[in-house]
Amino acid sequence: MKIIEIKDIEKQLGKEVKLRGWVRNYRKASSKLRFVIFRDGSGELQCVASKPDMGEEAFEKVKQLTVETSLEIIGVPQKHPKFEDKFEFHLKDVNIIGTADEYPIGKKEHGPDFLLSQRHLWLRSRRQNAVLKIRHTVYFAICEYLNNNGFYRFDSPILTPNASEGTTTLFEVPYFDLGSAFLSQSGQLYLEAGIMSLGRVYDFGPVFRAEKSKTRKHLTEFWMMDAEAAFVEHEENMQIQEELIRFIIRTVIRSNKVELEILERDIKQLKKADAPFTIMTHRQVIDMLKAKGVKIGYEDDFGAAEEEMITEDSQVPIFVDRWPKDIKSFYMKRDPKDPELVLGADLIAPEGFGEIIGGSQREDDHDILLGRITKEGYDIKDYQWFLDLRKYGSVPHSGFGIGLERLIQWMSGVRHIREVIPFPRMINRIYP
Ligand code: 4AD
Ligand code: MG
Repeated sequence: MKIIEIKDIEKQLGKEVKLRGWVRNYRKASSKLRFVIFRDGSGELQCVASKPDMGEEAFEKVKQLTVETSLEIIGVPQKHPKFEDKFEFHLKDVNIIGTADEYPIGKKEHGPDFLLSQRHLWLRSRRQNAVLKIRHTVYFAICEYLNNNGFYRFDSPILTPNASEGTTTLFEVPYFDLGSAFLSQSGQLYLEAGIMSLGRVYDFGPVFRAEKSKTRKHLTEFWMMDAEAAFVEHEENMQIQEELIRFIIRTVIRSNKVELEILERDIKQLKKADAPFTIMTHRQVIDMLKAKGVKIGYEDDFGAAEEEMITEDSQVPIFVDRWPKDIKSFYMKRDPKDPELVLGADLIAPEGFGEIIGGSQREDDHDILLGRITKEGYDIKDYQWFLDLRKYGSVPHSGFGIGLERLIQWMSGVRHIREVIPFPRMINRIYP
């Protein structure tokens, strides 16, 4: 007998087939009739168990099913009598594989803390399943775009001797006789070495920030895609980001109709964001916030509330461009027109989802970079290799880093970052 998955059921209408999966739920309609909602990872299927059709023995097995029991089902898929695009599975027999104890999730409303402590089980819920599928799409859409646009994958290390994004969020780990190593905050600095060999490169993996902030947008371990390109300057860098993000929007809308519906995502809003992005300077944004009554200065960074205000009147993401040098990272290139500013831009998503990308042209002048590293108080010997890149055939170059979970939050409309990564790591949580 053919073993199939729910996603392929349409091709098997009227034929006897076998599927393997779990009981999402069940309902007793009468002493002779039961409904079982069956799921297998690829989808969900309503099964009808009728005692006269199945026979006494098989029906007895159906009566033993509990929520999350794993099983094989044997029967015939048919068109649903009421819904055009749905199917119904007429059970002939079931084979229980693993029984399930009383399932802790689903009987009543649960608070986030309970659900997070049950994350290993919570992942099976309809909503979490939908988010994970969107995560899969976003991940591979990013890779697809980059692979098709001349970027080579280049894996940067996770254990590193130095900081890339400031020392306040570094995780330190003991490292044999060499003292301490640090968990990478971003692979960027290593990609800058990679481009001098390959031209355009990207990495994609977990990065770590000892973030003290308990917000809906911060994790201590999250996934970042850093991309870097030789001979690309600041404006072109922003164009690449815009093209990439718009490609992702279209891919998610096309690939995840069902999931976006489960999450009640307003697809109209996503479609509107697939249009030319806005660029504003940091100074213009400060002026706009001042006009909205925010108390903020020209040398200030944005808090969560301000970040949300930046795009509140915009359908498309906004690049906040040309930041004061002192509030941005040491590696960003000075604006030749104003040495107080850097050629760096953050991309802020609409609908309150905040910063999804940080990017910049990189400082390619050895002496200016040395000055900035010294001013940060970093130990030059840790950065000698990075300075070397400016001594042996330095070229103008730029890059950016996408926070994968922030982007998934925006695509799926999920307000809290803890729901868009399989096992979230936060300041107050490391279990399970
Ligand atoms: O803006 P960030 O710090 O930029 C960098 O690390 C650069 N080296 C990237 C580069 O140019 N290659 O981080 C990039 C993005 C942010 O825009 C945000 O989306 C996300 O990473 N991010 C976080 N996501 C979840 N939790 C956190 N604690 C995050 N911190 C940053
Ligand atoms: Mg940033």
